[in-house]
Amino acid sequence: MAGTVPVATSLKDIYTDDALAEQTGRWDRLLKEFKTNYGRNPQFVSRSPGRVNIIGEHIDYSLYSVLPMAITADVILAVAVIENAHASEGHYKIKVANVQSAKFPAHEFEIPYGSVDIDATVHEWTNYFKSGLRGALALLRKQHGTDFKPKSLEILMDGSVPAGGGLSSSAAFVSASALAVMYANGETSVDKTALTELAIVSERAVGVNSGGMDQSASVFSLRGSALYVSFVPSLTARPVYFPASNPELTFVIAQSFVVSDKHVTGPVCYNLRVVECSLAAAYLNAIISKGHPLPADSGPLGISLHGVQDVYFKDSNKPVSEQLSELISLVGSTLTKEEGYTREEIAEVIGLTVPELNERFTSTFPVRAEKFMLRQRALHVYTEVVRVLQFLSILEDPKSHLDADSGSSTETFNCKLGDLMNETQDSCRDFYQCSCSELDQLCAIARRAGSYGSRLTGAGWGGCSVHLVPADRVEAVKKAWETEYYSKLNLTEEQKAGAVVVSKPGSGSAVYVVDGDTVI
Ligand code: ATP
Ligand code: GLA
Ligand code: MG
Repeated sequence: MAGTVPVATSLKDIYTDDALAEQTGRWDRLLKEFKTNYGRNPQFVSRSPGRVNIIGEHIDYSLYSVLPMAITADVILAVAVIENAHASEGHYKIKVANVQSAKFPAHEFEIPYGSVDIDATVHEWTNYFKSGLRGALALLRKQHGTDFKPKSLEILMDGSVPAGGGLSSSAAFVSASALAVMYANGETSVDKTALTELAIVSERAVGVNSGGMDQSASVFSLRGSALYVSFVPSLTARPVYFPASNPELTFVIAQSFVVSDKHVTGPVCYNLRVVECSLAAAYLNAIISKGHPLPADSGPLGISLHGVQDVYFKDSNKPVSEQLSELISLVGSTLTKEEGYTREEIAEVIGLTVPELNERFTSTFPVRAEKFMLRQRALHVYTEVVRVLQFLSILEDPKSHLDADSGSSTETFNCKLGDLMNETQDSCRDFYQCSCSELDQLCAIARRAGSYGSRLTGAGWGGCSVHLVPADRVEAVKKAWETEYYSKLNLTEEQKAGAVVVSKPGSGSAVYVVDGDTVI
């Protein structure tokens, strides 16, 4: 699936037929508003979608493979290059506006040629654009030399991925921004892998030490398939198809309307989990692979639980599933403290002083914790890796997962997939502690109404849930949520309309060259 980002000539290349009419209206409005704002037509639109993660939660930053898919909701950025921007000497100008101008006010920046400053302490929407800009410029400089002079740009954004809703509006925004900057600066063939890699690293500049799943799903996805993304030995992605099933399977995404702001909660939620997984890796490795240090890798803190597996089984030819079972029992017998580990306890085992540990693991992204729950986090990660592999093998070898006596029904196959998703939810709730009571409720309601499998998706602590529902039960599940959950919240009409989405796998990033006042 490597290759270059497609340049679309029609919205038909981007959206499924059922979405075309609505999207054409939306894109035409974007072009019109661009002209009203800036007095000219944009030259192109860069587009990147949100994603829903089907299975493989909170394991991407431990460098284990995940299975997300792109959704229809996306970020579109209309862009024009300004030739005479009248910027100060040594600077270029970036004007960014948003169709939701009250919520996301317009800004104009003069940026020095050499560097892009991002203040991660301020939660400002344009930081996401700047992080895409910074990443794209680093790549352009690598290609064209350090005195490369970026072009001045006018940009208008329209994002339809709910912000902070677990469907990765942020990665859609950063990927679309980086793509826009590359294309505007003359890169008409943008390599998907290079774009994804730079988007992964540059999004961290906003203050969340995230993994690489969201950007990969946003850039690489192909319409009609989920995406199996792997991070080692290098970033790769391949399509995974859902076989025909009876009853037919659908993915239903349901909002909890609990907004989880990762910037605010990072020190006790997301960023803390990244630290806990990295410390678990260091601690476990120090005990089970004495004298064999963890190799530096592309994990956000430079080592990973995947690295522990690589070191421990370096000379082994055991099948991966057996390696993982052994690691799970080693976690059980090595990381025995249910109540968590103090910095002192960890530092002693991994051969650092406490200040060294703080400097190494908690200085770039500060965290607040007295104890680190190494046992629970490592158990979640290794058991989740097993679930991803089982899910994939069920999808790719459906026949061996069918009950031979059940005729044309694929009920056993459907249930096996659903069970794995339910187990993920249990593990996220109990071991990883990234669920919340609202997400638990949405899952319980859906299962009672006929969902095969229900779980949180994305970072959790709020945001969205994903449900594997037989097509003939979708209405029943929706109705149950309405009566038992949504009717109890004070939702606006817009929120009600967006609360539940039946999602088909959508396509990834694209550029659309604008010709005239409307799109085709
Ligand atoms: P998750 O990472 O859990 O999947 P998410 O990516 O939607 O969910 P965040 O990573 O917290 O959530 O990113 C949300 C931020 O992205 C918003 O606070 C805002 O700054 C920016 N953003 C998202 N959508 C838009 C938009 N349409 N316009 C402007 N900024 C947006
Ligand atoms: C967020 C991050 C991803 C991933 C998920 C949890 O969406 O951006 O990298 O870690 O959480 O699976
Ligand atoms: Mg995000």
